[in-house]
Amino acid sequence: MPDIAYLNGKWSPIASATVSVEDRGFQFGDGVYELIRTYNGKIFHIDEHIQRLYQSARQIQLAPRETAATLCQVIRQGCVKSGYPDVKIYIQITRGAAPRVHSFPKGCRPTVVMTFRKFDPVPDPIRKKGVSVITVDDIRWNWCNVKSLNLLPNVLAREQAVRAGAYDALFVQNGWVWEGAGSNFFAVFGKKVVTPPAGNRILSGITREVVIAQAKQQGISVQEKKISLTTLSHADEIFLTGTTVELLPVIRLNGEKVGTGKPGPVTRRLYRIFQDAL
Ligand code: PDD
Repeated sequence: MPDIAYLNGKWSPIASATVSVEDRGFQFGDGVYELIRTYNGKIFHIDEHIQRLYQSARQIQLAPRETAATLCQVIRQGCVKSGYPDVKIYIQITRGAAPRVHSFPKGCRPTVVMTFRKFDPVPDPIRKKGVSVITVDDIRWNWCNVKSLNLLPNVLAREQAVRAGAYDALFVQNGWVWEGAGSNFFAVFGKKVVTPPAGNRILSGITREVVIAQAKQQGISVQEKKISLTTLSHADEIFLTGTTVELLPVIRLNGEKVGTGKPGPVTRRLYRIFQDAL
């Protein structure tokens, strides 16, 4: 049973796990989620992911019935049951199923869904060559630090990127570039590494935080500050970070070359450090 789901305490193949049409995740996107992966059986920073899940839940006043320890236990069980060395784990918690009213219904029990699938990494040739990104208008709400199920702006941005032949889209609001539709980004200017600050305009990625800590340990300075699109267009290197992309070099921004148009030395060094620490 390799591709499996966990739904409110029950295990099944993904295809047979179904939630009610009245689930508020479906009706309103009223819920939060996380994506976690394993590397050869080892779960990547599970505590930080679970902490962020509960933080997102708190912010939308959603109280999961399970403790963090219980969810971690279920995640570990799912990884073993799925049997893949590299597992892609989605955890989604919604406010539950109830007749449709906008305000919180009384006595609604949160729905917990997890899916466990094989994790497919970014193919090597793409990672070696680097990817293109475009920029899009940031039409998201003001709580981008909440990993909410409401992903419509991200869906539309990613679709626009795909249609433009790009890998991801970076959100720009009033000239400031914040993050990708499914990733954070870093820019390199000479030896300086810069990334937009944590706050309400970005989801501060677990990968982002790991990369910042690793860079600092190696004596590479990382500044967390706002980056304008004009500044970004003069970067020597840009790279994306995230659970799905790890550290991924960006070689084109809106069709223009980034630096030499090839993955740069700082990005390659940080990727090596990241890999060595796994
Ligand atoms: N999302 N910013 C956004 C908007 C994201 O959706 C993600 C990841 C990140 C990176 O976070 P992390 O390093 O913790 O994965 C930043 C995952 C990949 C998803 O939605 O599938």
